[in-house]
Amino acid sequence: MNQPFDSDLPNIDAPAIGPPTTDPVPQPFEVKFATRVDRLPPYMFGRINNSLYQKRRAGDDVIDLGMGNPSDPPDPSVIQKLADAAADPGNHGYSKSNGISNLRREVASKYYRLYGVRLDPDTEVMSCLGSKEGFSHMCLALMGPGDTAIIPSPYFPVHMYGVILAAGNVVALDVADSEMFLRNVAYTCEHMAPTPKVLIVNYPHNPSSAVIEPEFFVEVVRLAKKYGFMVIHDFAYADVAFDGYRPPSFLAAKGAKDVGVEFTTMSKGYNMAGWRVGFCAGNSEMIRGLGTVKGYYDYGMFAAVQIAAIVALRETDTNVEKQSRIYQGRRDVLVSGLRRLGWDVTPPKAGMFVWAKVPEPWASSMSTMDFALKLLEEGNVAVSPGSGFGQGGEGFLRMSLVENEQRLRQAVRQISKCLG
Ligand SMILES: Cc1ncc(COP(=O)(O)O)c(C=O)c1O
Repeated sequence: MNQPFDSDLPNIDAPAIGPPTTDPVPQPFEVKFATRVDRLPPYMFGRINNSLYQKRRAGDDVIDLGMGNPSDPPDPSVIQKLADAAADPGNHGYSKSNGISNLRREVASKYYRLYGVRLDPDTEVMSCLGSKEGFSHMCLALMGPGDTAIIPSPYFPVHMYGVILAAGNVVALDVADSEMFLRNVAYTCEHMAPTPKVLIVNYPHNPSSAVIEPEFFVEVVRLAKKYGFMVIHDFAYADVAFDGYRPPSFLAAKGAKDVGVEFTTMSKGYNMAGWRVGFCAGNSEMIRGLGTVKGYYDYGMFAAVQIAAIVALRETDTNVEKQSRIYQGRRDVLVSGLRRLGWDVTPPKAGMFVWAKVPEPWASSMSTMDFALKLLEEGNVAVSPGSGFGQGGEGFLRMSLVENEQRLRQAVRQISKCLG
């Protein structure tokens, strides 16, 4: 007689399924990416980088104004501190995901010293593995399907794709005129439902070098409170400015901490790009969200790097200012050289880039990508085509100030020769 059905007992009387009598037709093994990866476009700088690599392998001396990768070293005292801290056996375990407290304290004290902003180092400052890591994980903490972020156009790629990878949508607004940008933010909020959840801003702006004055952030805070969006300010070029201009901190605007955060980095002004040291500061709830995501993904920076970063923040302000003057000298050489060739270039007030209009007749006869490839292949000068920063960058080239003045003069001569 059949036993009554009992869901807690395994059904041991069920007939076994025999092995297949024929082998299945072998299918080619396929790696299938997640939709979030399939949403990413092909890497726009791939063609340029590939050609640059081939040329260098062939022995060509290419002047590389492509990436904003600082070529000067950090202050020797910082390198020495790194070596000393690395020699200490106590510094080799896992560190804390949000950064050691002395480093967060040093960041808070720099904010007070430079911008008069008071931050609680325990709840309002977090260390990141470079600001790009922090920014992309902040997107993951805040954005999801159905959420929209407003970003600048043209855009630094992670401002767009950090949101896309978090399954959010993007509205890109022209960054060239800051008042128009703010009017467009308000217009978008008035006409979109649901309203955008996050506003991403970046001044001094990469790639266009656009800058703003402190009133800009006062208006950003007002709009954020009116329309209920959160603000992320990418302040990567906080430390690189010219002719007495001082890039304002978003957090110095009254009420900024109520609505947003700011990312800073030691990559640019401190020449520590490879060290991967960045910070997020501001709204404690947003930082808590970032900390939650990071807590699952990483164990924080190598402690020796954090200890050396404290020394850099505490003792090398003059070096940071000196580095800005070096970039200013390079800017002057490159801008005056390009102007002599008849190019329409505005000298940047800050950042590490010259954003130059592609001159005629090339602007109307070829794409910006083809023009950049021409400069590389025929002139041995690598630049970034503006289209790599979205459609808003078409018609422009981004030239970074990482080569020395002599090499920049040489670059102008090579461009001149290549364009006849
Ligand atoms: C606007 C902007 N944000 C962030 C970064 C990345 O900085 P980090 O080295 O701190 O990740 C860069 C680097 O080029 C940048 O230009």
